[in-house]
Amino acid sequence: MERVVRAPQRLRGELEPPGDKSISHRAVLFNGAARGSALVRNFLAGADCLATVACMQAMGAQVEFLTAPQAEEEVPVTLRVTGAGDRGLHEPADVLNAENSGTTMRLISGLLAAQPFLSILTGDASLRSRPMDRIIRPLRLMGAQIWGRRGDALAPLAIRGGNLHGITYDLPVASAQVKSAVLLAALFADGASTVVEPAPSRDHSERMLRAMGADIASHERAIVVRPTGRPLEAVDVAVPGDISSAAFWMVAGVAHPDAEITLTNVGLNPTRAGILAVLQRMGASIRIERERTEGGEPVADLVVRSSALRGTVIQGAEIPLLIDELPIVAVAACAAQGDTIIRDAAELRVKETDRIAATVQELSRLGARMEELPDGMVIHGGAPLTGAACDSRGDHRLAMSLAIAGLLARGETTVRAAEAVSVSYPGFWRDLDRVAEGTEA
Ligand code: S3P
Repeated sequence: MERVVRAPQRLRGELEPPGDKSISHRAVLFNGAARGSALVRNFLAGADCLATVACMQAMGAQVEFLTAPQAEEEVPVTLRVTGAGDRGLHEPADVLNAENSGTTMRLISGLLAAQPFLSILTGDASLRSRPMDRIIRPLRLMGAQIWGRRGDALAPLAIRGGNLHGITYDLPVASAQVKSAVLLAALFADGASTVVEPAPSRDHSERMLRAMGADIASHERAIVVRPTGRPLEAVDVAVPGDISSAAFWMVAGVAHPDAEITLTNVGLNPTRAGILAVLQRMGASIRIERERTEGGEPVADLVVRSSALRGTVIQGAEIPLLIDELPIVAVAACAAQGDTIIRDAAELRVKETDRIAATVQELSRLGARMEELPDGMVIHGGAPLTGAACDSRGDHRLAMSLAIAGLLARGETTVRAAEAVSVSYPGFWRDLDRVAEGTEA
């Protein structure tokens, strides 16, 4: 599917971004393995999280949709998840398919590492090209049998879980997916485990597992898990809006010359909110209103307005705090005065696409002046964008970043493979039509 985007005269309105993808995955996965039953409100019924639902159902978790997910309409979805905690998960009768979702594959592998049965995990072509040795290594060290294609680097994966031992593991990359896989396996080990991160990554797993009765202590970069011998207890989860989805409107709002957009119910967990600090440093006008805590996660409303942006440097420990937002930050950087430099972000090369190459090549089609670095990119701001045909390459975040670039460009921008948005934001195109008022002549 192709979508055509033109620059609107104004951007106005109020939007609630869809439920957080990371938290939606965890709410189904952890409750699905827990004892008891829980309600998950504002669940993101995007393709990635639905893959997690299907995998957990195949192993005996019960997931009931109390409101049905509807393509593009995105009514808030409530689920009832009844965990397999008492009797345990069972061997799936078929291959588990994580589709496009790295979170599904990596987190479920951590859970399966402790299950005494065989499971095979696969995914789409993109996921089958993404590194899985990063989870295979620690899970094997803990005692699981686990194999992958290409010398145990790629999916499909075969896992036969085992009696696990506790480990101390230094994560080679700041990855919440790898951290979470090890933490999940560690819950079932015969002793305590410690995971050390090179820099803090999103901590939704730690927060939710603690709420379910797990013994998890965080000391700066070290996380210590002590198995309790009891199953996790199911907990209700009210999923906050996804800051990674809100980010597209934050950038549209600050970079468009006539904009004011209110974003409601945005999750502002400090391990996810790097985009806010970066845009503010670039001169963005973002007002934070109604700060509150919901389900153990900080939440607020954001009012974003047209702003004069300037370039910045993004590197080091700030990178994991906005790893998924870097393609849309590159769009903001195009609208800024001066250069923006993104470094220490080589992880972008192993996301749904190589997001360094894809962002630079696709935004360059619209006239952006930017270059690749091995671990990031340099964007020379201020070059006017001009509409052109560009391609999401099947990557949801690239599709949405290109659409926002189209809102800022002169003329007509065509985004190819525009349906990719359904992975994390099924209502994205509807929301774009809602806030864009009057298109240019
Ligand atoms: C996620 C962690 C990040 C992020 C992904 C979701 C998670 O991946 O890019 O979209 O829910 O844990 P890495 O852990 O591989 O950096």
